[in-house]
Amino acid sequence: MDCCKMSHKLPHHVSIHGGLYPSRVITVSGIVLKNAQRFYINLCTDSDIAFHFNPRFDENTVVRNTEIQGLWGTEERSLPFNMPFRQGYSFTVMITCQAECYSVSMDGKHLLDYAHRLKDLQSIVHLEVDGDLELNSVIV
Ligand code: GAL
Repeated sequence: MDCCKMSHKLPHHVSIHGGLYPSRVITVSGIVLKNAQRFYINLCTDSDIAFHFNPRFDENTVVRNTEIQGLWGTEERSLPFNMPFRQGYSFTVMITCQAECYSVSMDGKHLLDYAHRLKDLQSIVHLEVDGDLELNSVIV
């Protein structure tokens, strides 16, 4: 018999009631598609993308950026070790909002920090996930 594991339709939108604040944690779990090129997790205000977290298999890194009034800022691309996401493999990403940055871990291991560019944390009230993944769980 086939198992019926739940996965969310994409793009998947979640409201972050009350907005972000230091110590708030967002957890996203899924499986990267076998032929994946890219996927993203966005933390957004009503108009801007405060944090775009964008694993790219076609470039073998995780691009991070902020989009304000339709304009992307400078990308952050460095990683402390090789690209941790793998096509066909499951992952759990935890994004902890801290006072100065987002601290991101993958499968329990710290991956990177992203200094806040959009500093009105309370206004960050939407989470969006889309791209080449099976999305199993989002906890805000
Ligand atoms: C662009 C891409 C966007 C976003 C952005 C991040 O090239 O089209 O989807 O990933 O880079 O800097």
